[in-house]
Amino acid sequence: MMKYPKSYLDEINQRLKVSDVVGTVVKLSKRGKEFVGLSPFTSEKTPSFTVNDEKGFYHCFSSGEHGGIFDFLMKVEKLTFGDAVRKLASKAGMQEYKFTKTSIEQEKKIKRSEKIFQLFFNYCYKNLFIEENKHHLNYLINRSLKKSTIEHFQIGFCDDNNKASDHFLKLGYTEKEIIDTGLFYLNEQKKTLVPRFKNRIIFPIKNLFGEFIGCGGRTVLSSVPAKYINSPETLFFKKGNNLYNFHNAKNENKNTDYILVVEGYMDVVSLYNNGINNVCASLGTAITDNQINLAWRNFNNIVICFDGDSSGLAAAYRAAEKLIKILKPNYTVSFVIMPQGLDPDDYVNSYGKEAFLKTVDQKKDIVEFVFEYHAKQLKDFSPLSLANLEKNLMDIADTVEDTIIKKYYRNFFKNKIFEKLIKKSGKGKLNKFQISNSFDMARLDMSEIEIKEFSFCQLLIKFPQFTAKTIEKISNIFLSLDLTKKIKSKVIDNLIENPSLTSDQIFKNLVSEKINKIEIFIKFIKSNKLIDFLDLETFEGVIDDYEKQLNKIQKIKKIEELEKSLSSNMNEQAFTELISLKNSNNL
Ligand code: UTP
Ligand code: MN
Repeated sequence: MMKYPKSYLDEINQRLKVSDVVGTVVKLSKRGKEFVGLSPFTSEKTPSFTVNDEKGFYHCFSSGEHGGIFDFLMKVEKLTFGDAVRKLASKAGMQEYKFTKTSIEQEKKIKRSEKIFQLFFNYCYKNLFIEENKHHLNYLINRSLKKSTIEHFQIGFCDDNNKASDHFLKLGYTEKEIIDTGLFYLNEQKKTLVPRFKNRIIFPIKNLFGEFIGCGGRTVLSSVPAKYINSPETLFFKKGNNLYNFHNAKNENKNTDYILVVEGYMDVVSLYNNGINNVCASLGTAITDNQINLAWRNFNNIVICFDGDSSGLAAAYRAAEKLIKILKPNYTVSFVIMPQGLDPDDYVNSYGKEAFLKTVDQKKDIVEFVFEYHAKQLKDFSPLSLANLEKNLMDIADTVEDTIIKKYYRNFFKNKIFEKLIKKSGKGKLNKFQISNSFDMARLDMSEIEIKEFSFCQLLIKFPQFTAKTIEKISNIFLSLDLTKKIKSKVIDNLIENPSLTSDQIFKNLVSEKINKIEIFIKFIKSNKLIDFLDLETFEGVIDDYEKQLNKIQKIKKIEELEKSLSSNMNEQAFTELISLKNSNNL
């Protein structure tokens, strides 16, 4: 029988939780870190069947059955091992495994390269402590690392000679095998192997299962161009599928319900050095969905903690926009941005573990983080700016795949715009800026003038008694749209005839007048709920403000007209008028 390669089975195990596989057959409920249910192997009445996702197995106390996802399908669905693998691979979204000669060779190759990695990283670790490389050890010590931390991460120093590669050749590894690890490359001219990480401090990287897959290397010289270099993508090293230190951090889920994702190797190492081990790093690339799904296997909550600089913030936001799509109930992603100019390593070394953890406590949930990122970019509280903000946020909410979360995020954003921006800027009461703002304006696709004039007419109808009292002022306010002009004059006519008409009566009269395009106005009123929050006290200020704003719009129009006519025909009177318009103070 052909053997499936370990890496292929590992990948299936990595992608699927035992509870997901078992859960399709057995109704599971959560109990602490485990799930329990009624045994599918016996006909019990009280649940004694347990599933542990962390450990990757199920155990049945009534029958003694025990195993992983493959065993489960073989027993319950009576499948052969091969069929169970094919079924689960497809459930995990993977290609069916094609047995070929090369795939069997590949498996052997992976085993042999793992040995090269082990030998190499051991060699580099020891190297760090010899006299010649004291400088590099001191560098790490000056960065406050304890010996036990260096040992834990197997940090090492890669020298610039052929000792290691010669040793591997002597042991029978081929040049190609050595090159394929990514640790060495071939100097074509001299036909010698060159250590890729020469003269660098190296940080070995392991996969989820604790096997070496590559490393990163840091120079301690500022004159060397790339501060860090990383292993090239190889058969086993896929940056976007792995997290630095995850194989250690994953066991911390016994003590905490969240994992920190930081940007750098040194951030992980420093936090560990300070007693924090539920931390991993994204390996110098933008965070991927695969990395998040990996972290979610062991932790329900992910806290992304990026550097306190503009690129850290931008990277965090890019991650947020991407990850909001794959959120699911019970799993969270939140964000912490370090104070200006600091990364987690700087912070924990300057202020200590407790202060760092306090900062982490102030994390913002992804939806809040996205909101604030956009809200900060708001130039003003004008209707158009708010409409734009709302449109951008709704577009983001619409990318969420989970329909329930999508619904809540849409509402969250709408409420937040009102609460944070509109209510706050009005100090609890609506101010003049907000009157013409409306939640659904983005979808109404209206111009600024339309929004202003429609809101103005809406107010006239909402406060008829007040409108009746200020009829003279109101009739002098110039509106530019035919529809709003008509509405205004109808309202005024109505109120002149009967000053005690109610809003509803005026509204009914308007509708019965069959004014051209009145339905646009009705649609607007229905969506512009904001005006409901307005009280009479504010109304007068609003009217004054409209008068100014609308006059200003007229003035700008007039200036444009004058400028146009002056450019073709110089006329002293028009010129004087233009100058005085331009000098008038409320422009
Ligand atoms: P940082 O520049 O924040 O590095 O890059 P750091 O981890 O804080 O390291 P120190 O404190 O300067 O030693 C964050 C991560 O981005 C990747 C590395 O994975 C690094 O840990 N990176 C950075 C590179 O791949 N290449 C580079 O040249 C720089
Ligand atoms: Mn740093």
